[in-house]
Amino acid sequence: MTQKTYRVIQWCTGVVGKAALRHFIENPVFQLAGVLVTNPEKVGKDAGEIVGLPDTGVLATDDVEKIIALDADCVHYAPLAADLDMICRLLRSGKNVASVGGPFSPQHYPDKFAKIEAACLEGGVSYHACGIHPGFSGDILPLTLARLMNRIDRIQVYEFIDKVRNPMIYTEIMGFGRDPDELLAKPARSPEAPYAFAQSMAMVAESLGKKIERVTTKLEVAKATRDIPYTLGEGRSGGGVIRKGTVGGQHYEWTAWADGAPLIIYHFYWSMGADIEPRWDIDSRYQVVIEGDPPLEARLMAPPGADGIRPFLGLPWTGLLGATALPAVCDAKPGIVTHLDLGVVQPRGLVRRQ
Ligand SMILES: NC(=O)c1ccc[n+]([C@@H]2O[C@H](COP(=O)([O-])OP(=O)(O)OC[C@H]3O[C@@H](n4cnc5c(N)ncnc54)[C@H](OP(=O)(O)O)[C@@H]3O)[C@@H](O)[C@H]2O)c1
Repeated sequence: MTQKTYRVIQWCTGVVGKAALRHFIENPVFQLAGVLVTNPEKVGKDAGEIVGLPDTGVLATDDVEKIIALDADCVHYAPLAADLDMICRLLRSGKNVASVGGPFSPQHYPDKFAKIEAACLEGGVSYHACGIHPGFSGDILPLTLARLMNRIDRIQVYEFIDKVRNPMIYTEIMGFGRDPDELLAKPARSPEAPYAFAQSMAMVAESLGKKIERVTTKLEVAKATRDIPYTLGEGRSGGGVIRKGTVGGQHYEWTAWADGAPLIIYHFYWSMGADIEPRWDIDSRYQVVIEGDPPLEARLMAPPGADGIRPFLGLPWTGLLGATALPAVCDAKPGIVTHLDLGVVQPRGLVRRQ
């Protein structure tokens, strides 16, 4: 069977972008057309070198105009922060876009989506937003699991990340190492965050025929029981020590209410290792619990590594969710393509010999 191929650009090569770039190089369904980087040390490097693969002949560039001028079908857009104007430029230049940083839901951001829709129509292409959460664990996954239910009382979605074993840039921004009372009084998580996740909650609730009345937030903090050294991840300078008695764990709970009762609850348990009090579960994973008839629990996680500890794959999974959606996004009719528009995605080129 001849496979249709897609010329793809990878926009930024952080943890998420690298997972997608690797996929584009290895999956014959894609032809790598370009790579945009911001880091001067990566400019001019072969795309293969950036992800530890043989040379591809495609050199990374920081020249946005060159990327816009490329003849390509699609862009996997994974910068640190999504830039709406840039997304629209890419769309207007005739490239389909999958963005892992949103915006995610047309009903929550009508102004932004009006611009995106106009750019899609001008370029004759489509826009899709995706990722592990929002984009999968808290929406597509529970909605798919809902088909196994006779009756649903409440849906709880959990994200557990041990940020010592899985270092991330967000450690300081999120307030780890701060005074617990100060953080509880002024949580570090962006006020936008519950709103971003509310997009996923709305997708689930509305698909189940319910309307969310309000979203409430709770924050619980765990204290480090010893000084905990940490890094910000491979290739990143920075890091430090979370001092004993300061914030070593954070549990955010966002609750979407419908018909006067909690319908969907998202829990985020982020911890700096096991030495925290209270000592909650730190086994990195996503977990969906549906209360009702029959009760259901599903866990999404990587197998333990050689050290017996489970790595957190949320970031590479985000890149792969974007990458595997791209052929369907390219084939869709021009405009905004939500998860519901995409339906069950049929990823292409995954079954292949090594
Ligand atoms: N939906 C989800 O579930 C989900 C989950 C995780 C992450 N995300 C999103 O995915 C995106 C990438 O996350 P990541 O973990 O890969 O981050 P990351 O490792 O920090 O990588 C971000 C990359 O963006 C580029 N960059 C750095 N500073 C920048 C700046 N000031 N402006 C624009 N670009 C800059 C760099 O690319 P180069 O190194 O190539 O220069 C950097 O490697 C973020 O927007 C994040 O919010 C979404």
